[in-house]
Amino acid sequence: MTEARHVGVGIIGLGFGRSVHLPAFRLLAPLGVEVVALCSRNLDGARAVATDAGITLACDDWRQLIANPDVDLVSVATPPGTHFAPAFAALAAGKAVLCEKPLALDTGEAERLVQAAETSGRPAAVNFSYRALPAFAAARDALAAQAVGPIRLAEVSWHVGTRLAPHTTRSWKDDAHAGGGALASYGVHALDYLTWLLGPVERLFARLDHRTSGDGTSDDSCVILLDHAGGTRSSITVSLASAAERVHRIVFRGERGRLVIENTDPLDPVRPFGTRIELVGHPPHQLPMPEVRWLAPTDVDGRIEPLAAHAAALVEALRGARATFPTFADGLAAQRLMTAAISSDRDGAWLDLPVSTS
Ligand SMILES: NC(=O)c1ccc[n+]([C@@H]2O[C@H](COP(=O)([O-])OP(=O)(O)OC[C@H]3O[C@@H](n4cnc5c(N)ncnc54)[C@H](OP(=O)(O)O)[C@@H]3O)[C@@H](O)[C@H]2O)c1
Repeated sequence: MTEARHVGVGIIGLGFGRSVHLPAFRLLAPLGVEVVALCSRNLDGARAVATDAGITLACDDWRQLIANPDVDLVSVATPPGTHFAPAFAALAAGKAVLCEKPLALDTGEAERLVQAAETSGRPAAVNFSYRALPAFAAARDALAAQAVGPIRLAEVSWHVGTRLAPHTTRSWKDDAHAGGGALASYGVHALDYLTWLLGPVERLFARLDHRTSGDGTSDDSCVILLDHAGGTRSSITVSLASAAERVHRIVFRGERGRLVIENTDPLDPVRPFGTRIELVGHPPHQLPMPEVRWLAPTDVDGRIEPLAAHAAALVEALRGARATFPTFADGLAAQRLMTAAISSDRDGAWLDLPVSTS
């Protein structure tokens, strides 16, 4: 594909796909990116969104969207249990793919998607949003520079109240077999960014809980212990039913102090993150944030900007440039950890993981 050719995008799934994927890709118009097709199960709904956005093709069958020659890049924003088939078909048709997290429903599906991406030679990304946030990029640089010394312990505390709100309509989010729950919705992000920040995981122990799920099967909290190959131990605690504290905080405990990534704003899951260093004997020091390249208006969903950053990198890769984004291989790595967490919870035991040396 030449630099001059514009990139046509098709979006499948119009929940998060409508509120975040569509505006994110539209931010990339200066790169020659255009959303040309939309798909959701409800054809009238897809048509209404398409008309509103000035998009010609609206359909209720993702095969039609993938077959469209104007679509170069397929963005999959359907529930996790339905990621595999369209992502696999899009790669087989020679399209680039951006897929929501978790990449698939199980490790077998994720392995086949990695294989499909390798066979097609097309770039394939997973929307692990946190990697694209300035606060996480600043933390990664500071950790690499050992700003608080070698890290021995790290803790993720992520508490929201989504399960406390009365909800009468059941959805895939209540169903473990469709990819819902604390581990698949939130924990997978933490598994990914801890691997990205601290290195691969050698073994883990996990407990999942279902106290407020009613007759739903998906977990509403999870606690995971991870031993990273470099010798760091980390923990993840996620709760979807926290009444008192709404926070997403990661504390890295080093030999000379702490590095803290933190968001305490219950209304915005992304933009308010900051990163500070607390060295023993010094006042806390807030790290300067790297510039946000794809700025969205402040009154819209903050998750648009990180998705636009990953999508821009994917477009550059599609045009043959070297670009960095979370790949399907990263999606598979997180999927393996999720699968291990479920097995560990079932067996009540630590689980060893093969650590790739490549
Ligand atoms: N990266 C992040 O931070 C983040 C945040 C939120 C969500 N997500 C991910 O985004 C994905 C979607 O979540 P959501 O909250 O948007 O779910 P949602 O509100 O249930 O919306 C799902 C959409 O997918 C459509 N859909 C379902 N099955 C389909 C199929 N077979 N073919 C075509 N369209 C289909 C639905 O159509 P109908 O409405 O017509 O049924 C709906 O438009 C999930 O994978 C989730 O994990 C990621």
